[in-house]
Amino acid sequence: MSWDPYCYNKLHKERLEPFEDLLKLVKKREGLKVIDLGCGTGETTSMLADKLPGSRIVGIDSSPDMLKKATEWVRPGLTFEMRSIENLSGKWDLIFSNAAIHWLDKHDELVPKFFSHINPGGQLVIQIPSNQNHPSQTLLSKVAQEDPFRDALDGWVRVSPVLQIHEYADLLYLNNGTNIIVFEKVYPHVLKDVDAVVNWMRGSALIPYLERLPNKFHDSFLESYKEKIIQTWPTAPIFFPFRRTLFSASVP
Ligand SMILES: C[S@@+](CC[C@H](N)C(=O)[O-])C[C@H]1O[C@@H](n2cnc3c(N)ncnc32)[C@H](O)[C@@H]1O
Repeated sequence: MSWDPYCYNKLHKERLEPFEDLLKLVKKREGLKVIDLGCGTGETTSMLADKLPGSRIVGIDSSPDMLKKATEWVRPGLTFEMRSIENLSGKWDLIFSNAAIHWLDKHDELVPKFFSHINPGGQLVIQIPSNQNHPSQTLLSKVAQEDPFRDALDGWVRVSPVLQIHEYADLLYLNNGTNIIVFEKVYPHVLKDVDAVVNWMRGSALIPYLERLPNKFHDSFLESYKEKIIQTWPTAPIFFPFRRTLFSASVP
C-alpha cells in the first residue's frame, strides 16, 4: 500500500499516545533481540530502542517511503529492513507492533505464528486500532458502495480483520501465554474540523480505497466521503474517540 509519511505524521501527538501506553507494557531487560513489525517511519522503533539499552532492535516494514524516513534513526543496535510481516522469520525475545497488524488478515493464525517466533522468557506486545465500527470507518464503506465507486472498486470494501477483545485474550492463553494483559482504551481526540478527520483517514483507512480506485475518481471519492462526515459532524471541533486494543503476554 502507498503509505505517506508526511500524511501519517500530521496527527503526530494523537498517534503517539497509544504507543506510549504500549511501551509501558514492555518488560525492561538487558540484551534483547527485538523486532518491531510495521515500524513505519521508525520514530517509535527508536523510542522503543531508547527504553531497551544494550538490545538489538530491527524494525521491518513493507513501505519503501516509510522506511526512507526510518533511516534517520539508524544507530548501533537499531536497524531497519524492508520486509513484510507475513515473512517473519527467526527467533526474538520481544515481538512488538504498534498500529500495524490490522492490515493483515487471520489474526487467529497470526498470533500463534508470532508466539512460535518468540524465545522462552520472551514477550509479545501489540497495539491494534479497533475502531472499525466508528462512523469515520463505516461511512467510508458506505461511500465505496455507492456509484460510481462501487463499479470502479468492483464491489470491494475493506472488511476489518480485528477480532473482539476477548478473542485476543483467548489466543494468548491458548498459546501458553503468561502475564496476560489485554485492554481496550478509547483515546478522546478532538480534531479541528472535517478536513482534519479526512486527513487522519488519508494516513490510514483511506489508503487501500485510493489505491484501488483509478486516479480520476480520487477527488470525487474524497468529496463524497467529506460530505458524509459533514452530515455526521456539522460543527467543529470534532470529537473523535478512537478505540484501540492493546495486549501483551510472556512466553514461559
Ligand atoms: C499506522 S503505520 C504504524 C507505524 C509505526 N508502527 C508507528 O507506530 O508509527 C502502519 C505501518 O505498517 C506497515 N505495514 C502494513 N502492512 C504491512 C505488512 N504486511 N508488512 C509490513 N509492514 C506493513 C505500513 O507500511 C505502515 O508503515
